[in-house]
Amino acid sequence: MPVLRIDGKEVEVEKGTNLIIAALKAGVYIPHYCYHPLLKVVAQCRMCFVKIEGVPRPTTACTVTVDKDMVVDTKDEKVKKLRNLALEFLLQHHPVDCPVCPRSGECDLQNFTYIWGPERKRYDGKRRLKGWIRVSEKIILFKERCVLCTRCVRFLRDFTKTGGLSVTQRGFLSDLTIFPEKFADGSKYSGNIIDLCPVGALVDEASSYLPRAWRVQRTLTHCPMCERGCRVVVEAWENKIVRVKTFDNMLDKAEESLYSQNKNLIQPAYSEIIGIEDIGAHSYDKLYTQDLIMCDIGRWEWRNFFFPKDTNPLSVRGGIKEEISWEDTKKVARTFLSYDKKAILVTPYATNEEMTKFKELAEKVDADITLLPPLEGEEDDILIKRRKAPNYIGGCNILGGVKDEVISKIKSGQYSALIYYGMGANKGSISQKDLRGDFIVIIDLRLERDDFVGVFIPATLPYEKSGHYTFEGNPKKINPACERIPYEIQLCDSLI
Ligand code: SF4
Ligand code: SF4
Ligand code: FES
Repeated sequence: MPVLRIDGKEVEVEKGTNLIIAALKAGVYIPHYCYHPLLKVVAQCRMCFVKIEGVPRPTTACTVTVDKDMVVDTKDEKVKKLRNLALEFLLQHHPVDCPVCPRSGECDLQNFTYIWGPERKRYDGKRRLKGWIRVSEKIILFKERCVLCTRCVRFLRDFTKTGGLSVTQRGFLSDLTIFPEKFADGSKYSGNIIDLCPVGALVDEASSYLPRAWRVQRTLTHCPMCERGCRVVVEAWENKIVRVKTFDNMLDKAEESLYSQNKNLIQPAYSEIIGIEDIGAHSYDKLYTQDLIMCDIGRWEWRNFFFPKDTNPLSVRGGIKEEISWEDTKKVARTFLSYDKKAILVTPYATNEEMTKFKELAEKVDADITLLPPLEGEEDDILIKRRKAPNYIGGCNILGGVKDEVISKIKSGQYSALIYYGMGANKGSISQKDLRGDFIVIIDLRLERDDFVGVFIPATLPYEKSGHYTFEGNPKKINPACERIPYEIQLCDSLI
């Protein structure tokens, strides 16, 4: 394998590795806007200049692959000057409206300017004033903030193949232009252009008025909305989930060390992301599409899927509902043990740990147990999977899958006591309304009936708990973005 020596650090990399990635492996961050590992290299932002030994002039790193031993310097005076000029050029027309920009605090124009930018601009002429324009129902483009890196254009053209954005005109007049009729054709991945945009030009309208980067707590976990389990960052503020987005693999330890050199930066620290240690020594060791992008369902639909949600345990006695404490809930739930014919139904949204606990409970109290079926929908050959639940395979492995005979017996009232953990499951097969029994424990997002005797427990969301989901056959760790009582596990513990 060729050896890259960069700023005095040495690393062996696979032949053909892009120099920006190879440098990251050595712990050196080369600033860039237009480069992205999923997209074709176009070398148009001119931020990534480096000095390569044996090459007379500074070279753009994004166009170089490490094919043989190489000595690279990123701190060369000429290189710094070129970065400074590139930034001065970009800032000529930029509105510098950081105080109202939702990307402030995680913007590569802001951060690079702090580190390499000019102290003042020399250009005093006419500025391009372009305003803002709606790109889609959910996305707005603030044209003056755009640095014309064309990541969004290339993503829509080459990756999703839907098109919709293009750079028109030339030079001073260059403009990012929208073709709404094409954009409306509908990519299921349109939201990625928000994360791919290195500045605050493409903005998610729904989250633009939510707390900024330095105010939220970020947690690295996996999207539970289908069986793929894309890697996502969940942002929470005051213990509430505010945003779900992709994990920026460029935000890595090299970048952290770079940013820590400049005290003015407000970029949140890489080390402060909960669960970051799960990613291993380097996020670029293996690049999977599901680690770099996500679909629009995972990005936006979780709000409608999980909310509104009941928040307190309730005791239910034939039409009378009453809020009770968690301690009292566990006491009332013990009534379940006093019946002979018992059954437990578990959602494919349960973690492996929860499934194992419910199985242990079923064995201990001699109850029948079944997995509930997942919702199903469209799939594609990029990311989206047919089963709309994270842990169907885990449920097959641990609980033996969906047992239709148990579900039929429940519907025909052959059990006296039930535990129905139904959050996110396919209610077409069996819903809260189909449950028959003398005592019922319902664990779900919302209580949909009160004509029974038992308790209701608000389900813990996948973004609120820790454990593992067996996405596509591979167990992956999930981390909680908010602090919640793990009701499901504690219920089992209190009954075992
Ligand atoms: S909108 Fe963002 S991603 Fe698109 S070209 Fe402009 S800066 Fe690049
Ligand atoms: S494809 Fe979409 S829904 Fe499925 S895990 Fe990835 S982001 Fe979530
Ligand atoms: S990242 Fe190399 S020129 Fe833009």
